[in-house]
Amino acid sequence: MELEDLYRNAREAAKHSYSPYSRFRVGAALLCEDGTVVTGVNVENRSFGLTICAERSAVTAAVTSGRRKFRALAVCTPDAGYPVSLCGACRQVVSEFSDPSMPVVFGHGDRIEIRTTMGELLPLDSLHDLAGS
Ligand code: THU
Repeated sequence: MELEDLYRNAREAAKHSYSPYSRFRVGAALLCEDGTVVTGVNVENRSFGLTICAERSAVTAAVTSGRRKFRALAVCTPDAGYPVSLCGACRQVVSEFSDPSMPVVFGHGDRIEIRTTMGELLPLDSLHDLAGS
């Protein structure tokens, strides 16, 4: 699957974001090893600290459906005037199920704006080899 297609999945998913407090929708789409795309959105809560990011929503959905290996991640933030990168917590959680070479792309509009890798987002990940399978 093309990364632009994966990004479109993230953009579409963002429409389902539950973000009444921040008004900041985020959609994430994971391309899994078997070719399946699993999406996630940010789900906020009136107890603000309980909010879960779109990226971690996607990871939990993928693992719940038996998919533990990811090939690419796309994130769309339609309410920002710029592409928004994964937060630190999400970098750590996504890295559990991906190689440092995994492509990660971001954007806020209808096209990808930034292309990077998990290794660039989480460098010197010395504990990566401890990740389970
Ligand atoms: N958020 C994500 O879902 N992913 C990110 O990478 C950055 C932040 C969410 C959390 C919260 O619902 C809103 O965006 C504003 O921080």
